[in-house]
Amino acid sequence: MNRNHSEGTALFTQHLKKATVVSIINTISELNQLQDVDLILDSTLREARALAKADAGSIFLLRNGELEFRHVQNDSIFGMSGAGLFQYSTESLPVSDSSIVGHCALTKAMVSIDDAYAIDEKLPYRFNSSFDEKNGYRTVSILAVPLISRGHSLVGVMQLINAKDRKNRATVFSEQVKALVPIFTNNAAALIERSILNRELILRMAKMAELHDPKETGVHVQRVSAFCAELYQRWAENRGLPRLEIRRFRDIISHASMLHDAGKVGIPDSILKKPGRLTPEEFDVMKQHTLYGAQLFSNISSESSALDRVTHEIILHHHERWNGTGYPHGLSGEAIPLAARITALADVFDALSSKRSYKEAWSAEMTFAEIRKESGQHFDPELVEIFFQITGILHAIQMKFQ
Ligand code: C2E
Ligand code: SIN
Ligand code: SIN
Ligand code: FE
Ligand code: FE
Repeated sequence: MNRNHSEGTALFTQHLKKATVVSIINTISELNQLQDVDLILDSTLREARALAKADAGSIFLLRNGELEFRHVQNDSIFGMSGAGLFQYSTESLPVSDSSIVGHCALTKAMVSIDDAYAIDEKLPYRFNSSFDEKNGYRTVSILAVPLISRGHSLVGVMQLINAKDRKNRATVFSEQVKALVPIFTNNAAALIERSILNRELILRMAKMAELHDPKETGVHVQRVSAFCAELYQRWAENRGLPRLEIRRFRDIISHASMLHDAGKVGIPDSILKKPGRLTPEEFDVMKQHTLYGAQLFSNISSESSALDRVTHEIILHHHERWNGTGYPHGLSGEAIPLAARITALADVFDALSSKRSYKEAWSAEMTFAEIRKESGQHFDPELVEIFFQITGILHAIQMKFQ
């Protein structure tokens, strides 16, 4: 039951229907436009599942020698709306024979299982039924595919669960599916690798801006980025925006918001690292971080990428307030770009709930009360309402990036 199918690929591709090839090419070109690793994982898994008619699937990425759980879809349990806070699970598996995913990573070969509850005793790995038990699910067939970039480097493992027959009953994965899926996943692996490097580069830029505490800045920036992505997504879904537009902008805001304080590179350490309260004069200097940062992105024109434009908006306007009392320009209401309104809420939520050099962390109750109080004052009231609809997901993000 553990076979390597890559030899069969060339043969099968000759017999592919043109429509299937066109659909793969279209998906690959759509994937190429995405920056964000989570969106690439989501598209990759969705398309691979469509190709394989699989009910569910998950992706694990190799990080620090472990396989980190990164993405899950399951039509039977979560439906099309996505897995919500399951997406922020912190589970990880060793690269070893102890699990199917671990074995797939160890051997860099596809593992195909026809019945998860009847795995040959002689095989080294066992099926872990805890997900089934927790969720009342029944796993039958499994296809674990290594994600290999540039022909050699292992990025992670994708697991497809329960191939469906015409009557939607679980069946085995066909030989054609086993030949097709790797074509797709090998390309996706290269994109995943690129997007991880991109994100690390942006994160490094963000950390440089706040060298006083690069460790703390790292997680602050990642939390703000994830809060922004989730707040935007709910805002856009409430308005019924098209799915593709939502994905594109979510991708942009998750990257752009990481750089919201990039202008702090221009603030003297004596102010940036001050342990206590700032004097009014010092605070006036501190406020310049919005303008310094915007200068880094000042040659913005109609030809600039959407990512550059939104990054500029966020850096310049993330301290504006809904009622017009913020800085640097005192804009109010919808004159403040949406991305900046979202980042303002995400940034303050994180600043209040975290310890800073100049303040202790606030309790969740005090933080929530403050955000509620500032609805329509500091913050866009529509966004505050969304904030309180997704506190579960926001909490999962805090747990993940501690
Ligand atoms: P930050 O620490 O990332 O805080 C971001 C924003 O969160 C602040 O923007 C403010 O709107 C909100 N915030 C943070 N802590 C508190 C708090 O204790 N109470 C309330 N009500 N809001 C809070 P703001 O005020 O424009 O400050 C911008 C940046 O200036 C801060 O970023 C921080 O780096 C610095 N800063 C502000 N006040 C002080 C201070 O008293 N001492 C020091 N050392 N730095 C300060
Ligand atoms: C910028 O360089 O874009 C910021 C200048 C401003 O609008 O205040
Ligand atoms: C609220 O809606 O104000 C309560 C939010 C919470 O504590 O989770
Ligand atoms: Fe700031
Ligand atoms: Fe901040």
